Amino acid sequence: MIISGKAKVAGVMGWPVGHSRSPRLHGFWLDKYGIDGAYVPLSVPPERAAEAIRALPALGLRGCNVTVPHKEIAAATVDHLDESARGVGAVNTIVVREDGSLEGRNTDGFGFVENLRAGAPGWRADAGPAVVVGAGGAARGVIAAILDAGAPEVWLVNRTRERADALAADLAATLGPKTRVFDWVSRETILAEAALLVNTTTQGMAGQPPLDLDLRHLPASAVVTDIVYTPLVTPLLAAAAERGHRTVDGIGMLLHQARPGFAAWFGVEPEVTEELKVFVLGS
Ligand code: ATR
Repeated sequence: MIISGKAKVAGVMGWPVGHSRSPRLHGFWLDKYGIDGAYVPLSVPPERAAEAIRALPALGLRGCNVTVPHKEIAAATVDHLDESARGVGAVNTIVVREDGSLEGRNTDGFGFVENLRAGAPGWRADAGPAVVVGAGGAARGVIAAILDAGAPEVWLVNRTRERADALAADLAATLGPKTRVFDWVSRETILAEAALLVNTTTQGMAGQPPLDLDLRHLPASAVVTDIVYTPLVTPLLAAAAERGHRTVDGIGMLLHQARPGFAAWFGVEPEVTEELKVFVLGS
């Protein structure tokens, strides 16, 4: 697509940023909707991230996505944080407002829940406790989103218990004491009560061993999802499908988290389709 001098410009800021699929994703939508706009990779080292974010309005950019390792510095740099960003202390979407000020949002949780709703129609957050495995950066947004969607409790297990305790205490400050931590050795027995099981660890990713988790106690009605999407069907999802569970793969979270940013920067509510998914995975 050829752009004009009036093109609306946004991008993704990260370090490194070369692996990001966001330019491909937004590029697909720009093309599909015939928008005079561009979405570019912004390769910014950590020591220049705050400076680069503050320069967005001066450069006339509509905003940008923010990826690793800049999500926290973005939260500290923008002028306004919406509720989602304040809750997790990290920003993945920046919108330059009309007055030139910077608004930080976090749409990862939205993406996670929308992906579940699309992939497991009829899924209800209030069906019972959700078991979340892993307490790294990704877990924080996922837990906040599940509780926000109405889950009564999140049961959190992590190989290193202290990290789970710290995350649960942190989340309790904004979301109430709804995250219960269990020991790693209990991770299989607690599945007996779970309505949803989420892997937020790196286990199961290409080049990593599968997540060490036997699903024998999980009720048949439970939905299983993984935030890992390389491969699309992780060993965990394959085992769950084999047992007859409804499974939701991780790529949809990436696709859905992109929707609010695209709408804010380019003025069109974009659609997540099978064609988009195939295109983004094809990079
Ligand atoms: P991110 O912040 O991107 O989520 P991370 O902070 O490295 O990444 O977190 C990775 C998650 O995978 C952590 O929950 C980690 O558990 P620890 O806190 O015990 O490190 C989990 N993880 C990594 N390797 C694991 C393994 N072999 N078995 C179980 N969990 C593992």
